[in-house]
Amino acid sequence: MSAETGIENISTILVIGAGTMGRQIAMTAALAGFATIIQDISADGLAAARTELEGWAASRVAKGKLEQATATAALEALGYSTDLDSVATKADFIIEAATERLDIKTQIFEKLGVLAPAHAILATNSSTLGSSKVAEATGRPAQVCNMHFFNPALVMKCVEVVRHETTSDATVETTMELARRLGKEPVLINREVPGFIANRLMGAIQREALFLAESGIASIEDIDTTARTALGHPMGPFALMDLVGLDVIDFIAQATHAETGAVEDAPNERIAALVAEGKLGRKSGAGFYDYKG
Ligand code: 3HC
Repeated sequence: MSAETGIENISTILVIGAGTMGRQIAMTAALAGFATIIQDISADGLAAARTELEGWAASRVAKGKLEQATATAALEALGYSTDLDSVATKADFIIEAATERLDIKTQIFEKLGVLAPAHAILATNSSTLGSSKVAEATGRPAQVCNMHFFNPALVMKCVEVVRHETTSDATVETTMELARRLGKEPVLINREVPGFIANRLMGAIQREALFLAESGIASIEDIDTTARTALGHPMGPFALMDLVGLDVIDFIAQATHAETGAVEDAPNERIAALVAEGKLGRKSGAGFYDYKG
């Protein structure tokens, strides 16, 4: 098979990383009928993903939002593995959603370049690292792009497909079409730019929200209420930062600032202080808000 992989060649999807994003991306693929493998170096991480996805499916069925047969088929379509070497050889499309560290991602993509079938497309879910950073390591840069999902990935419709300078048209088209088959509405970003579209828009709102709160102009609760009731946002900026994870927000700011050097991209001190206290948002039980109750 040539590098011009079409959607018709994709039957098995490998998701690398069983964290918040990876597990939901994998379930999305399984629900769309693809044989899907989740790979993670941590067996505990895989077990936690499996428990959460089984619980999610059971609650959707109980609410009457998912047919039992569809849930069962999706759960059966999901495979779990700690061994990247063995599963990489089986995948037609790979979505890397591992830790946001360039050294880790480069190692993974180097390995994929050797092990994945020649026709396989290698995508990264990274929100901060453009795929050009890992493309050369694969030996097949034309088949590499970003495929960026949003949290919670089972719900959010947007997928940002980002091409780097030598990503082929076929790779872009197949990735866009795959996103559609997963029930998403992909958007295309023609040139790598820190933050792509969504995180740049989100960053602008967050900066303004932090300014209003830190200046004592309004409380975080009232700022969040205004975003919902005046602008129709599903949740306010502080609640959203807690959902995404303050460590992730801080990391995005650090990575963006390192690339742009722009004052407005600098990490926020209050967020860094919350992260230092272990207040990472919803996942740790507290962030801007307290979730323990
Ligand atoms: N996992 C899976 N499903 C979830 C979920 C989760 N964590 N949270 C909510 N849902 C589902 C619910 O089951 C429900 O499904 P249903 O309507 O079919 O029963 C649906 O989402 C709506 O949930 P709720 O009624 O409980 O609450 P809301 O109506 O407030 O929706 C929300 C929750 C979907 C999270 C909504 O508030 C929202 O869209 N918030 C904004 C999220 C957002 O902006 N995400 C992008 C973050 S940025 C990012 O991810 C980029 C990265 O690079 C940082």
